[in-house]
Order: sequence, then C-alpha cells, then structure tokens
Amino acid sequence: MKLIIINGPNLNLLGKREPEIYGSETFEAYLLTLKTKFPQVDLSYYQSNIEGELIDTLHEVGFNYDGIILNAAAYTHTSVGIGDAVKGIETPVVEVHISNVHARESYRHISYIAPNAKGVLFGFGLKGYELAIQSFL
Ligand code: DQA
Repeated sequence: MKLIIINGPNLNLLGKREPEIYGSETFEAYLLTLKTKFPQVDLSYYQSNIEGELIDTLHEVGFNYDGIILNAAAYTHTSVGIGDAVKGIETPVVEVHISNVHARESYRHISYIAPNAKGVLFGFGLKGYELAIQSFL
C-alpha cells in the first residue's frame, strides 16, 4: 500500500503556528508516529507553500500511488487548479483538515477538492491523517 500525505501552505509551521487551533506538535514528529503505527504502509510525505508545486506533485503521484491524503490548507478554499488536478488523476484522494473548518469563517466552508474526493475528514486534529490512512486499509 503506497500512500502519500501532501500538505499545503503554512503547514510547515505546524507546532509553532496558532497552536490553539493546530496543536503544538510538528508534522515531522507526527509523521514518525504514523510510520510506527502503520509499518505495512509505504508512506511518503510532501509539503509545499506553492500552488503549482502541489499540482505537479498530484500529477506525479496520481497515477501510481494507491492513495493521496491531501490537506491543501488555504488553497482548499480558493484553488480551482488543485480541484481540477484532483479530478484529473486516478488515485483516490482523501481531504483532511486539522481544524473543524465548518466551525470557522464562512470562506473556509468552501472546498474545491471535496466534490472529487473519496472522503473528507476535518476537526479531529492531527488524528485526521491517521483516520485517512485507515480509510485506505
Ligand atoms: C486547514 C484549514 C484551512 O482553512 C487553513 O487555511 C489551513 C489549515 C486545517 O488543516 O485545519 O491552513 O487546512
């Protein structure tokens, strides 16, 4: 089972950024926990703050991985391009958000990814990534 987690803009700051919303753990530390929990999964990780790089990565992995776990962060709510990329690839995508986006500003209620996602998980903190992995097993 070959899965990749793709994180979008500002998620490189996890642990430091608005810890009251996103928690105080870095993603690198959490990734080690995930790899220990799922030794049977070939789990890759990619993060970028750049929309086009996220699209390029979706194209690269989207025809040869078993699953993509995508937190496109703010681009979720703005990017027709990322939405189209998710629609255009074959690998199923699970959309994840750490926070409960529906309990926040109304502009976070829109997702250009959800219409073409296998499923969406939000509001479970970093555990959402673990639940997303489980959804592929
Ligand atoms: C987020 C929610 C987005 O609205 C926000 O822009 C983020 C993170 C989340 O994981 O809760 O950067 O995707």
